[in-house]
Amino acid sequence: MRNKVDNRLMVVTAATLLSLMGGQLQAQDEPYVVHEITPVIVEGPWLVAPTADGVSIVWVTDSECHSQVEFGTSADLGRVAENDRHGLLPIGTLHAVRLTGLTPGETCWYRVVSTMVVKMKAYWPEKGLSVESPVYQFTVPDPGQSEVSFSFLADTQHGDLPRIGANLDAVDWNGLDFFVHGGDAFGSLESEEQLLEKLIHPVLERLGHGIPLVFVRGNHEMRGSFARHLHDYVPAPEGEFYYAFDAGPAHFLVLDTGEDKDDDTNVYAGLNRTEPYREKEFAWFEEHARIDERFSEAPFRIILMHAPRWGWVDGDNDRWTGLANRTGIDLVLAGHNHRYSWSPPGSDGREYAVLVVGQDQVADVRVGVDEITMKVTDADGTDVAVHSISRSEVRAPSQGDT
Ligand SMILES: [Fe+2]
Repeated sequence: MRNKVDNRLMVVTAATLLSLMGGQLQAQDEPYVVHEITPVIVEGPWLVAPTADGVSIVWVTDSECHSQVEFGTSADLGRVAENDRHGLLPIGTLHAVRLTGLTPGETCWYRVVSTMVVKMKAYWPEKGLSVESPVYQFTVPDPGQSEVSFSFLADTQHGDLPRIGANLDAVDWNGLDFFVHGGDAFGSLESEEQLLEKLIHPVLERLGHGIPLVFVRGNHEMRGSFARHLHDYVPAPEGEFYYAFDAGPAHFLVLDTGEDKDDDTNVYAGLNRTEPYREKEFAWFEEHARIDERFSEAPFRIILMHAPRWGWVDGDNDRWTGLANRTGIDLVLAGHNHRYSWSPPGSDGREYAVLVVGQDQVADVRVGVDEITMKVTDADGTDVAVHSISRSEVRAPSQGDT
């Protein structure tokens, strides 16, 4: 519920109970102070981690606020989602609210609302006014849709603005269902400013507020003083960088291939724990393939990940390949190598294809019920390759064989 402004201060009545504070009995229906000061949305909102029933909406304000998203199936909105956690509304400048319970294929209208908290106190915190974004809309992914299209690029590396700008300008943004950044957007991640300026803002300039971003973490995003905050800006439903979603005829797995070096490598000074993390991810992948109906039933299964050979997994690369084989993965899209390559099924013990998109390249991917087509171009528009996978080539998963 938003407050109405009454000149300089506003009176808001709450409950009529009494409480003891500072040795004095005060009525809880006394007003809390609302200053006539309005926050500003300085970035976003952007959409991340779309699923067939939800999406996360993220934005940044210039001052400490609590937030909510108003949404609905028309511009009238009508529903409200908040991000309360442990019984409290978070207060901060970064805001992330996940919409859930959406209907596949429906158009969802939304606006974000942030209300300033001027002074946080145990009782009678002082508030400010609210800012609202315009009303935007997006389409909820629909597994029943006969085709889905997306673009994939990676290794815009080292936060090079001209490079990411040129790469993003090579994307055909018309008709995209979502956009995938395949990781290594930075050499290392050092600040919010860097993250916003060199990834979120340039992507958002092209995506707008109605096409979701799917972010795949690269090994370079594990490095730097701000690396531990990255997930807050691209939150996924599992709370990890790996998750699954359905869109059109494909079931997608977003995997996190972690680091490219051993946890014990001295450059990390004992601060990495990718070994147990990747083991947990492996177990999740295995269990997800076993229990998720859509994983089995979808015409195609596609992995989006950064390092095409699974990253550093302590020599267990073949175990991961075996899991992908027996769960019927059809295609892996990856980056990391900085050079284009196409590996059809049948090499390196793989029963699935691997497309590695080189640096300064973009893959436009369309998944139909019977065929996946991939067109790779250089950022300057030069054609690199076109590939396709037909459904007739696709094997059924053999999930019992684990
Ligand atoms: Fe990489």
